[in-house]
Parts: sequence; structure tokens; C-alpha cells
Amino acid sequence: MEKETKNIIEMRHIVKDFNGFKANNNINLTLQKGEILALLGENGAGKSTLMRILSGLLEPTAGEIYVRGKKVDIKDPTVAKNLGIGMVHQHFMLMESFTVLENIILGHESTKGPILDLKKAAKQVSALAKRYGLTLDLNARVADITVAQQQKVEILKVLYRGADILIFDEPTAVLTPQEVTEFIKILKGLAKEGKSIILITHKLEEIKEAADRVIVIRAGKSVGTFDVAAVSDDRLAELMVGRHVNMTLTKPQVKAGKEILNVKDLHVKDNRGIMAVKGLSFAIHAGEILGLAGIDGNGQDELVEAITGLRHVTSGSVIINNKDMTNQKVRKITEAGVAHIPADRQKYGLILQFPLADNLALQTYYRPPLSKHAIINHKAIHEHAEKLIKQFDIRTTSATLLASDLSGGNQQKAIIARELDLKSDLIIAFQPTRGLDVGAIEYIHKQLLAQRSAGKAILLISYELDEIMQLSDRIVVLHDGQASGEVKPEETSNKELGLLMTGAKTEGTNHD
Ligand SMILES: Nc1ncnc2c1ncn2[C@@H]1O[C@H](COP(=O)(O)OP(=O)(O)OP(=O)(O)O)[C@@H](O)[C@H]1O
Ligand SMILES: [Mg+2]
Repeated sequence: MEKETKNIIEMRHIVKDFNGFKANNNINLTLQKGEILALLGENGAGKSTLMRILSGLLEPTAGEIYVRGKKVDIKDPTVAKNLGIGMVHQHFMLMESFTVLENIILGHESTKGPILDLKKAAKQVSALAKRYGLTLDLNARVADITVAQQQKVEILKVLYRGADILIFDEPTAVLTPQEVTEFIKILKGLAKEGKSIILITHKLEEIKEAADRVIVIRAGKSVGTFDVAAVSDDRLAELMVGRHVNMTLTKPQVKAGKEILNVKDLHVKDNRGIMAVKGLSFAIHAGEILGLAGIDGNGQDELVEAITGLRHVTSGSVIINNKDMTNQKVRKITEAGVAHIPADRQKYGLILQFPLADNLALQTYYRPPLSKHAIINHKAIHEHAEKLIKQFDIRTTSATLLASDLSGGNQQKAIIARELDLKSDLIIAFQPTRGLDVGAIEYIHKQLLAQRSAGKAILLISYELDEIMQLSDRIVVLHDGQASGEVKPEETSNKELGLLMTGAKTEGTNHD
């Protein structure tokens, strides 16, 4: 057995009770110095809760924590910080209007008297960034950088605070495959330097690649801890969800119907006023899934925001069901038959301080059956919520739980449930399975195919090539705001898509 002293962290019999619901129910976890420990479990299993306890954001109802062999009481984040524990959260906690540098040093300023010594801080941060290969523009505003860059900011933030026990809560959920490879390299580098790491992820291949050991939790209880090298993906998936998971999809034949969406020569600017979508044209028909492949930051956000009315269209048009909907209001576009699963679930998808039931009614509360003569029918809203909670297996203690208290994956399931339940003709699904466990992904993929069979047009934007390949009827590759190619999944490969995505290849030319 392992020596006591090897454990840098030991959590014993941890219980966390939320009003009678045990999110953690007697969990034991050990983390050894210099290792990468993966934490795996279904959406709502209690992973974030356990890590929030370790980082002093939540107090356990019962249980003990030992750090470097000493019993500790991590009663607030400052205690955690002083113990060298730093956490990068599932939903980033950055100040959008501040610069990268400001975000990193915020709350941990090196002061020269009462004045903030930005120059000195910048030097230190630069050195740290260089050492760990975290390339970043320190003077950029956080609002203007990509999520992958924001994540680097979060990592630098904990490193700058001197953490040597690092907790990452689903760091790769927001990253593209290229970024994931880079991130795992960074993680391994950190571990090699002697940092001890806990990594929460739903991706089994990432666990295989990065982690030494994996702890599986299910419904608040630990199922076991395993050496990664000695356990198969299938076994892990089964341990996690408690049943066999079928990862292969059968796509029924569906005949494409009438044109639902037509995007014509679209030009859209980004937040900085720079053209991000540059003359993009495509159409989607009823019963068709159009996959949009591309590396993050090639105009995906701006395109989706333009179609859904969240962003101004500079020129070109968006035709929905033969009606010109260019630059219409969001509500108008929704009413024209557009459902939208947004990429940023906390910014556009949910009102976090509202109960789950209200969030599930966000698009329809003002009309029958949820309202009558402008009076909201609370009973109908509740019943509507109960129906969707059951149908989509949203793990919650009740329909009245605040959306902020749902687990990350269950927030995502709530948005999908609400949007797929709308009477829509077009579904815009932006990273629909982000942060979902393998069982939930299986379910959502089947739901999207069912919507396709029901004659809906679906625009699927995803950074997961496998997802795009499995679900799409056609794939448009977006590069630098333009279509660098259109291919059929059965006639292309991940390699060809990769080349189109980087612009190394465009349709009609062949650099092979
Ligand atoms: N403040 C709270 N009040 C009530 N219930 C809560 C609260 N915080 C979390 N929960 C519940 O505890 C359970 C575990 O949530 P947690 O966020 O730890 O899950 P998770 O394993 O991180 O899931 P995911 O993979 O979806 O992120 C969920 O059912 C969640 O709704
Ligand atoms: Mg979580």
C-alpha cells in the first residue's frame, strides 16, 4: 500500500448536505504529490461540490481533510490559498472589462506603498507565463479574448498565488481539440514540476492521456479509485453511469424538405469592430443537420449571434422560412420558429438567480398555456417543468431549485430541454453536449436525430469533430469567417477537415 506521507491531500468521509439532499455522501479521496488524479462522474454526481469543499468555498457537513499529513479546517478560500490550493472553476470567474494582467493580480497585488506596482507584477506574470508555456497578451481585455485564452488567465491566476495543488473543474469542456492537446501538455508540465493536480473531465480519452489515477463517483458516493493504465474506457463509463453506454449512433435516412434557413453573403463584425463573418452563404432544409466545423474564433460566435438577433448584421441577409429576418429582435426570431442552444449557457442560456421551472419557461411564459390574458399560470409552469425534468433526466432536487444551484451539466440539460421543447423549425445547437457526461451525450444525440426525423432543420456548431461527423448530413467548414469547404461526412476524414479548418486547404485546391 501507499505510504501515508505520499498523500498531499486526503479527504475522509466527506458529506455535504443541501437541505436534506446529500450531494457528497461519504467520499474518500487521496491525491499524491506530483500526480494527476482524474475525478470522473455523471452530471450532478457531486464533483464540483467536493472540489468546492477542498478550495474553501463550501463547508462540509461532515468529514475530515488532511493536507500534507496535517488535519486542516478549510473554512474559507483564504485558508485554501495559504495551503497552496488553487482552483480553476467550471465557469470562469474573470472580470470581463479588465485586462488579462489586472485579472491575474486582482486580489493579490504586489504593492509599492499604497500604489499598485503594475510593472513589477507584469514582469512576474510574464516570467510565469513563459515558464509554463502559457502565451497570452497581458494587456488584452478579457472580454476580447477566446475562452482558451481566458482559461490560461485562470491558470496563471492560481500559479501567481503560489498554488502547488491545482484543481481543474472541466477545463477542457470549453476547449477545441487542438487546445486540449496543448492544455494537457501544460498539465503534464505542471505535474512534472511537482505540482499535484485534480482534473475533472467527462472525456475518457483525456483521462487516458493525462491522468495517473482516476476516482469515480456516482450519486455522491465514491465507486473506487483506479490506476488509469489498468482500466478500460467501457469499464469507466459503466462504473460512472451504472449501465452500459452505447457510443455508436444509427442515423436514419431522412429526405430533406423545404428550405428553412438561408444565409446570404453575410457580413458580421466582432466586439472590436473587425469583420468576423466575411460573406458567408449556406442553406439548411427541413430534416437536415448542417454541421459547422471550425477552430474556435473563426466567426462561429458572431454568425450564431447574427442569426439569432443578438448581434447586428453589417450586410447580407438571414432568411428564415422565406421571411427576411435580418437584424430582427431576438423575440421575433424565436417566434419565427428558431430554437437556440447557446454556447455560453450562463450568459445567454439561463437566468441563474431564477428557479429551474422559470428558466424552463423563459421562451414561452407569456403565452398560452403558460399564461392567459397576460396572467402567468404558475401551476402550468410547474407542470411544464416537471415534464421536462423527467423527459431530459435533469438531476435536481426540485423544480424550484435556483438554476445557479444546478450542476453545470444539468444547467446545460435544462437549456436543451427548453429549446427542444419549443415548436421550432430551426434549431441552432452551439456545442450542445458541452460538459455532459457520456450517458447524457448519448441521449442528446438521439434527441437531435429525432428532431431531424421530425423535419426540423438543425445548425450544429461544434468543436468536437466526432460529433460533427456522427450527426451531420453536410459539413461546412468555417475558416476566417468564410466557408473553406463543404463536405459530406461519409466522403471526408478528420484529416481533411483539419486541413480545411486551418485554411491549409480550400475547396477546389489540393496541397497534398
Ligand atoms: N447550493 C446548492 N443547493 C442545493 N443543491 C445543490 C447546491 N449546489 C449543488 N447542489 C446539487 O448537488 C448536486 C451535485 O452538484 P455538483 O455541481 O457537485 O455536480 P457535478 O458532479 O459537478 O456535475 P456536472 O458534471 O454536471 O458539473 C446536484 O444535484 C446539484 O443540484
Ligand atoms: Mg460540476
